[in-house]
Amino acid sequence: MERVVSKEEVRQAVLAARREGKRIALIPTMGALHEGHLSLVRAACERADYVAVSIFVNPTQFGPGEDFEAYPRDLEHDMQLLKAEGADLLFTPTTASMYAADAQVEVIPGPLGELWEGAIRPGHFGGVCTVVSKLLNIVQPDLAFFGEKDFQQLTIIKRMVCDLDAAVRVVPCPIIREPDGLALSSRNAYLSPEERRAATALYRALRTAETLALGGERDIALLTDAMRACIAEEPLATLDYAAVVDLATLTEPATLDSPARAIVAVRLGNTRLIDNMQLTTGV
Ligand code: PAF
Repeated sequence: MERVVSKEEVRQAVLAARREGKRIALIPTMGALHEGHLSLVRAACERADYVAVSIFVNPTQFGPGEDFEAYPRDLEHDMQLLKAEGADLLFTPTTASMYAADAQVEVIPGPLGELWEGAIRPGHFGGVCTVVSKLLNIVQPDLAFFGEKDFQQLTIIKRMVCDLDAAVRVVPCPIIREPDGLALSSRNAYLSPEERRAATALYRALRTAETLALGGERDIALLTDAMRACIAEEPLATLDYAAVVDLATLTEPATLDSPARAIVAVRLGNTRLIDNMQLTTGV
């Protein structure tokens, strides 16, 4: 695996791969890689001939008082993992090279970016869209892989690619979970043993909604209340939101008439965790 830092080196490496007729994949990450990220690398290795991974803890998607400084960073370990998976290129840009001091233009995610995570983290999705757009422009991949764990992010990126006519196919990849259901996240590393145990409440809430939906329950308010009740049973957990949303608009329908997504966000001490699950009606 080749590691490069400058945009020019990325362009050269990708150009050489393209001249060999290779199909290029990009997996944008912020590092602290876990099995969730590695599942994206494996999916990319199956679908593409040349797999590029970026590691960049993007400052513009963190708000004041959020965990930008504390965000876990372990480049040596990440590189070992990526080599073992067979990634071809690792791009680790500096902040100064990604954001010129006189930069002015940013991507505005629109209404989807103001809901849920966007309401709690103002500006977050603007930062995500801008950096993803820049990474797509730098690497110019045929395919870009994103985890369903960040379902709102994935939905907004699909919308951005469509609305801005980006010449890339977005490939969503399923959530990878611990045996007890906790979705893998780099932020799980922040949890104390007690918080780690309490964190299973998110999965329980989602499974409760799923089971009710499969049993024929279509009342969204009832599904949402059941999720809230699960979180309320966990004394360490504070609910930010629990909802069932339309897959494209991320707004709440009144009834579950077509597949929708149950989404949940919870605080455990200083750590915020998010998770989601597809809901389909059983009847
Ligand atoms: O999901 C992430 O890790 C980040 O939001 C992303 C897509 C790499 C952009 O910084």
